[in-house]
Amino acid sequence: MDDFISEIKKRRTFAIISHPDAGKTTLTEKFLLYGGAINQAGSVKGKATAKHAVSDWMEIEKERGISVTSSVLQFNYGGYCINILDTPGHQDFSEDTYRTLMAADSAVMVIDGSKGVEAQTRKLFKVCVMRHIPIFTFINKMDREAMDTFELLDDIEKELGIATCPINWPIGSGKAFRGVYDRNTRELEIFSGTKKGTAVGEVQKAPIDSERAREIVTEEQYEHLEEEIELLDGASAEFDQELVDKGELSPVFFGSALTNFGVETFLRHFLQMTAPPLPRMSDKGEIDPMAEKEFSAFVFKIQANMNKAHRDRIAFMRICSGEFDAGMDVFHIQGGKKVRLSQPQQLMASERKMVEKAYGGDIIGVFDPGIFSIGDTLTNSSERFAYEGIPTFAPEHFARVRQVDTMKRKQFIKGINQIAQEGAIQIFQEFNTGMEEIIVGVVGVLQFDVLKYRLKNEYNVEIHMENLPYEHIRWIENEEIDMDKLTGTSDMKKIKDLKDRPLLLFVHSWSIRMVLDRNPGLLLSEFGRS
Ligand code: G4P
Repeated sequence: MDDFISEIKKRRTFAIISHPDAGKTTLTEKFLLYGGAINQAGSVKGKATAKHAVSDWMEIEKERGISVTSSVLQFNYGGYCINILDTPGHQDFSEDTYRTLMAADSAVMVIDGSKGVEAQTRKLFKVCVMRHIPIFTFINKMDREAMDTFELLDDIEKELGIATCPINWPIGSGKAFRGVYDRNTRELEIFSGTKKGTAVGEVQKAPIDSERAREIVTEEQYEHLEEEIELLDGASAEFDQELVDKGELSPVFFGSALTNFGVETFLRHFLQMTAPPLPRMSDKGEIDPMAEKEFSAFVFKIQANMNKAHRDRIAFMRICSGEFDAGMDVFHIQGGKKVRLSQPQQLMASERKMVEKAYGGDIIGVFDPGIFSIGDTLTNSSERFAYEGIPTFAPEHFARVRQVDTMKRKQFIKGINQIAQEGAIQIFQEFNTGMEEIIVGVVGVLQFDVLKYRLKNEYNVEIHMENLPYEHIRWIENEEIDMDKLTGTSDMKKIKDLKDRPLLLFVHSWSIRMVLDRNPGLLLSEFGRS
């Protein structure tokens, strides 16, 4: 077997999503501890030790305690090479999460057991379901008083429209949380002696029917567990790997990331259930990493100014097939020429390091001199195929933006354009005027704050923002249409994108129907094109 194939088979690449504070960082940290990539918790995000968070690049993230950008961590565990993609913890950044999910083969959803699916996360989790990738649920903080377990599962099923299948079951919660019951082996796993911030802990296992099982939990807990198992075996969906692979059934695990209860159990099961790098669709059909020998990758994220001192811009790409060597030349399909992938980087636990070699399934960040766009394909295959594009979400909030100091026009335009290229915002112009007035569209309002903050901090430009009442955007598909003759509604506004393509903004959704009725032949689309 080719060497690179065995490397690819070892890869497991997944995104981790959660509501802020549900415990994503703590869980990631524990994974790294089990993998031996770090020695002490707090290295990833040590509020206590005041070390900088690996995944929190921007000041604003620290200020607000949410993670705005995505990052990647790689570590080894049990013969696997694991890539974890971090995602923003707020639904206002669900588009960013969606793009990150494009680079992942599965997703781990962390839920706080005392809160269930939270309002803020609903949209974020739904993009996971939209992507149809396997979703694994880790219900965390079982060491705190949790919601009723059946209610929690019900909550996930109703809110997200995905069936659940508990792989294990919690024994008690809060102070009485003892461990989990493994439904497959029918064993109790009782945890003790764990130390906060370490991977240390003892696990005692005992078959449910054994004397030992009755000794290690209280009589009440034992009886309660027996009742719940009976109910569960009768009511819950059976484990079905095929449904898991299609993203229709989510295996559920319980535990406490802080106290190491159930973390390693989860990691082990999860790694067996999640797939190695999967084939991906291109304009030449499916590209299978186990068959395609040549390097291929697509860009899913662009991030500028990660290091303020260097004003760098990094394009993150998911390698889909083959092998990557530092400094190699590859063909950039959209650019139509060969490019050298320079300064390739990967995040290892707490530091960024240069990559010498990487394989299908891995994520690398390369220096981008401003040539890459989100969705671009790079490959050395003689086939010259392009991977399927990444859809853009229709913005739902709009504002008119201008710089406060007219002398700073140039920086303003540069900054706003660069931030738009990263896909964090979309920019438009008034239909009949030039670039003076810029209209910014975002999916979540928090992105406005990020824009304001970044323009000030990275480009030294203060902006004035006037919110606009529009909530719906439509691209005009038949561009030959005479915009001056278009019969609109009173709540409609004509704008254009940077490529001069006409668009319409609406306050009310019913006006869209009306405009379509008033202008026979008009074709409107909800999705943008890059
Ligand atoms: P996030 O990345 O999803 O935002 O969450 P993070 O891991 O930062 O965890 C948020 C808070 O919840 C942290 O407390 C963390 O210690 C706590 N936490 C995480 N997992 C568990 C768990 O299993 N049980 C309990 N009881 N708490 C958990 P903090 O006080 O905000 O920070 P710190 O001072 O502990 O670092």
